[in-house]
Amino acid sequence: MPLHTALTARLGIDAPVIAAPLGRGSTPRFVTAVADAGAFAFVALMHMPEADIATTLADYTRVVEPTRFGVNLTLIRDQRRRLAAALDAGIRTVSLWYGDPEPYVEQAKAAGATVFWTVGRLADAARAADLGVDVLVCQGRDAGGHLVGTAGTIALLPAVVDAAGGIPVVAAGGIADGRGLASALVMGADGVWMGTRFVASEESANHPGYKQRVVDAGFDDLLETRLFDGGWPDSPHRVIRNSTVSRWEEAGCPRSGERPGEGEVIGAHPNGRSFLRYTDASPWEGFEGDWEAGAHYAGASAPLIHGIEPVARIVASVVEGAELALRRATAATRPVISTPESETR
Ligand SMILES: Cc1cc2nc3c(=O)[nH]c(=O)nc-3n(C[C@H](O)[C@H](O)[C@H](O)COP(=O)(O)O)c2cc1C
Repeated sequence: MPLHTALTARLGIDAPVIAAPLGRGSTPRFVTAVADAGAFAFVALMHMPEADIATTLADYTRVVEPTRFGVNLTLIRDQRRRLAAALDAGIRTVSLWYGDPEPYVEQAKAAGATVFWTVGRLADAARAADLGVDVLVCQGRDAGGHLVGTAGTIALLPAVVDAAGGIPVVAAGGIADGRGLASALVMGADGVWMGTRFVASEESANHPGYKQRVVDAGFDDLLETRLFDGGWPDSPHRVIRNSTVSRWEEAGCPRSGERPGEGEVIGAHPNGRSFLRYTDASPWEGFEGDWEAGAHYAGASAPLIHGIEPVARIVASVVEGAELALRRATAATRPVISTPESETR
């Protein structure tokens, strides 16, 4: 039972599965693995210096066609030049979130790009058709990383589908396996958008210790907070509890600027940039220092993740699991809708 939807048709992919941008975790190797698995990945440009975008994206397009992955822009700052550089590099799929998408939709559509917009509120979903957005990402509060809405995925998704006016919707937040994909399809979505599941993949360049923490995390280890605000103030996000969280809690949860170890350098990234406690970046491969104290973004999906696996296996098992879940659900309804045996005697 191939799972072909409006999303797979639009992107020319085999599996209705999208890998969310994972900060610096979404390297050319990772993006290639996702494309080769028949799925689609987005690369976050938010923190990339504008001047470096062309050369950085060239590292991607050398190994994967620019039409087989997309870029993601966080609209808390002016992103027009980053978008222009990505369009110049041949990228034709753009994802927007955290701000007013209107000017960026126009800019992307003028270049013939497909535009995704991540929403968490019905009022935004209802605006999407008029804005010219092509695909909505419905992010439930269960998500890992920064959060845009207030409602959990299972209630928000059908409501967003209803409000979207026929635009394809992709479900994000708390989804890590085939049952999540099956549920999303049943609720009217055209695919899923997973972050945490792909952090714990062999090919992502997130720090190995962070990946293992995703695998080990239980529900009680997850925390919604505004703590990791360096570079992105006052924005809610979901993380796995760690020593920075506990030190802050032990100090009575003081406000930003007065927290323990504020401004302290806890390590350095391979690019030489120092890494401050409370920064919004999460540690990636090659980090030297106290990686455990950094932000380990993870959704309510983390407890469903039991190993660091190759991307191809993750995508295949999500699709196969969804097919199985859909067959099981169909079979399970049969006794209810067929004539009971006792009545046929
Ligand atoms: C490590 C990490 C980094 C993220 N960075 C971004 C980002 O730059 N842009 C974005 O639109 N979403 C970002 N997200 C959020 C995801 O797009 C998505 O909403 C979330 O991962 C879905 O929940 P899940 O983690 O339970 O799958 C990030 C999520 C994680 C886990």
